[in-house]
Amino acid sequence: MADANPPVAQPKTKGLFIKTYGCQMNVYDSERMRDVLKPLGYEPVDAPEQADLVVLNTCHIREKATEKMFSELGRLRDLKRQTGGEMRIAVAGCVAQAEGEEIMRRQPAVDMVVGPQAYHRLPEMIAKLARKTGDVLETDFAADEKFDALPKTREVDGPSAFLSVQEGCDKFCSFCVVPYTRGAEYSRGVDAIVAEARELARKGVSEIVLLGQNVNAWHGAAPAHDSRGGEWGLGDLIRHVAKIGGVERIRYTTSHPGDMMDDLIDAHGDVEQLAPFLHLPVQAGSDRILKAMNRKHTAEDYLRVIERVRTVRPDIAVASDFIVGFPGETDKDFEDTLALVKAVGFSQAYSFKYSARPGTPAAGMQLQVEEAVKDERLGRLQRLLNDQAQAFNDAMIGRRVKVLFSRPSRRQGQALGYSPYMQSVHVDDAARVSNSMAEVEILGATMSSLKGRLVEAEVHA
Ligand code: 5AD
Ligand code: SF4
Repeated sequence: MADANPPVAQPKTKGLFIKTYGCQMNVYDSERMRDVLKPLGYEPVDAPEQADLVVLNTCHIREKATEKMFSELGRLRDLKRQTGGEMRIAVAGCVAQAEGEEIMRRQPAVDMVVGPQAYHRLPEMIAKLARKTGDVLETDFAADEKFDALPKTREVDGPSAFLSVQEGCDKFCSFCVVPYTRGAEYSRGVDAIVAEARELARKGVSEIVLLGQNVNAWHGAAPAHDSRGGEWGLGDLIRHVAKIGGVERIRYTTSHPGDMMDDLIDAHGDVEQLAPFLHLPVQAGSDRILKAMNRKHTAEDYLRVIERVRTVRPDIAVASDFIVGFPGETDKDFEDTLALVKAVGFSQAYSFKYSARPGTPAAGMQLQVEEAVKDERLGRLQRLLNDQAQAFNDAMIGRRVKVLFSRPSRRQGQALGYSPYMQSVHVDDAARVSNSMAEVEILGATMSSLKGRLVEAEVHA
């Protein structure tokens, strides 16, 4: 009689190296690619030299990021030659989506190209590659199909985890490639999100970061247990996730000022687990430039949103993104950006020189700003933002805050964690706090991090 449970053949272990560029959505996607490839026997390795498959998960947002990818591909081609051509190279992410054909043409060592909505098809693509048949370029836009097809289990790595709830963007800011690379706005359903959050919490995750290109545009049909029915917004979702046992801290990123709905703002006042941190990109402080950017808000609208959030959560840390040297930006426009920065007082910020992206409306605009002018403006803006970050961090000295320690610091013997305000915090005594939330007294501050002393460490099992 045949054995009712024949031994299942375990796939041979193969090395997988994924290099991630760009935003947190890509970090999430890289983690999920690992989950997708695990059943095929792929296990993460520390360096491309040990890998059978190398995936570059790419970013297309600025020109520099794309150039970096092509130079990395050159290095991988040499490595592939050294392995006798056995190593497989895949390009994933937003450059794959936007320039898939071009990548295949420019770098023949690339075996597969897979866009951000298609990486659940990697196993099929690898099989096709082995059979030497069929298409190895997948750049379809079907976010719903992707999320449905992803494995329901997730590997977790530490006490903090990203959870994608929304993808794509319908805002079409005139400088931005995202609506073209990530496609139209798509919100995952409440049940799928909550199931994933529960799975994370069950595996020991205490901080959940809800992700989306426009995460505060997230909306979904209310689940059956909500007798009010109708539609949920991000505020409702946050309140629901906060009820999952073990979830001690919730963050969301990144947002558009036009989608800061009343209920989401209120959640900052009444959901204890929601971190007092808001990343709300403004890009510029001149109404003329904001209009040319197609941001659909004014500087005053932005200031009003910040004021409303500060009314319910006075200590909130506000972070932002800025672009200097957008086409047509005059000295006066730039001064308006500096004035907005002074009016808000940011805890941290990312600032960039405008980079013309092919296919976006701004790339064809008149009056492109000279590089030297962009450099000078970026320097002035960054000096102001750095001063604000230093002041924000200095104000923490002497305070006690709960810090979530997720990984060892690069500094010997120290642990690195994050305060509720998203500041990096270093403490000595790394072994005691690894993967736990602990109370820390802040002793010192630079503009980019805090130094503290452990008050108590409640190490989670
Ligand atoms: N040039 C410079 N910066 C850009 N960003 C997006 N597109 C461009 C561009 N073409 C910046 C914006 C955005 C952040 C993710 O990247 O500030 O918020
Ligand atoms: Fe790009 Fe604007 Fe959409 Fe943000 S809101 S992803 S900047 S188009």
